[in-house]
Amino acid sequence: MRYRVLGSSGLLVSPICLGTMTFGEPVGEADAIELVHGAIDLGINFVDTANVYEGYKRFLGSPGGTAEEIVGKALVGRRDQVVLATKVCAPVGPGPQDRGLSASHILREVDRSLKRLQTDYIDLYVMHWPDKHVPLETTMAAMDQAVRQGKVRYVGASNHNAAQLCEMLWLADKRGWPKIVSSQIPFSLLRREFQNDLPFCERHAIGVTPYQPLQGGLLTGKYKRGNEPPVDSRVAEKPEWMWPLDDLLFDRLESIEALAKEIQSPFAQYALAWTLAQRGMSSLVVGSKRIEQIQDAVAAAALELPTEHFKKLDTICTPPWQQPDPVRG
Ligand SMILES: NC(=O)c1ccc[n+]([C@@H]2O[C@H](COP(=O)([O-])OP(=O)(O)OC[C@H]3O[C@@H](n4cnc5c(N)ncnc54)[C@H](OP(=O)(O)O)[C@@H]3O)[C@@H](O)[C@H]2O)c1
Repeated sequence: MRYRVLGSSGLLVSPICLGTMTFGEPVGEADAIELVHGAIDLGINFVDTANVYEGYKRFLGSPGGTAEEIVGKALVGRRDQVVLATKVCAPVGPGPQDRGLSASHILREVDRSLKRLQTDYIDLYVMHWPDKHVPLETTMAAMDQAVRQGKVRYVGASNHNAAQLCEMLWLADKRGWPKIVSSQIPFSLLRREFQNDLPFCERHAIGVTPYQPLQGGLLTGKYKRGNEPPVDSRVAEKPEWMWPLDDLLFDRLESIEALAKEIQSPFAQYALAWTLAQRGMSSLVVGSKRIEQIQDAVAAAALELPTEHFKKLDTICTPPWQQPDPVRG
């Protein structure tokens, strides 16, 4: 495993990070613990969770906590082998203080996460979403407090754009607060709206840790035009989390698969290798139901795509800069 630096943290992380959003259901506790141990044995040293994750049971405002509890159990005796990331912001109850990036919510939730994770420190504490009701200064002062208390080592952002990241860096500089070290954005061959932010992250040592790099399993070759989805797949089990399988999507998937076949690469590995080759990438947050899927992801880290494939992929999956830009032309 060739580890990569996570932004300005100096932490060395595996290019594949184990996502835990499906811990609880469909990945039950015993299987999830085995997956964590299997991933560590394969060289993965980066685990991503969130206070709200509870698998398919999750609905807006449900209490969450299940995935953190499972990760906590899995890491008993192995805590120091992983860089552990968790997140705060999404609603964990019906009350107005049960969500967001206020100091009250952050400082309450950090304690709850520590308890469920059975640890006394979180390596990477991530602002899950922007919160338009809370001044960034309030949020960052609370993060600074959590770092000074020793509960958090580093701070990261998720679902923020480059302008918001820039404001965080500026405030940190101005006030002597911790700099954000990572940015977790939705990003895959099929979803590239943050593509233009990647050079900014690279320049400012913000390690990009994209989520859903397989677009929930669409980029694995298991969904075929005209066929029913496999019974144990996410499309069959949790269709509301997935995009509709329409002709435009299959046109793209089939074109990508043809390129993967040119170099005899399994589809999932090909998609992940493309993502890892993008600027600023530290580690891809990949979800897995079985150890074979993690093995597939780990194998992608050793795969290099031929140079000419990048251009071909840009014509299949159009990046944002090929759309009209009113400012830069
Ligand atoms: N920050 C955020 O807002 C945010 C949002 C979403 C997710 N996340 C993080 O990102 C992680 C990954 O998200 P995700 O699981 O939705 O997306 P993903 O990694 O793109 O997709 C993972 C799913 O694809 C299928 N799969 C994986 N490898 C495969 C393979 N080799 N062959 C066939 N199928 C394979 C599995 O589902 P099936 O086998 O069930 O089909 C697996 O659960 C989450 O666990 C979470 O940690 C963060």
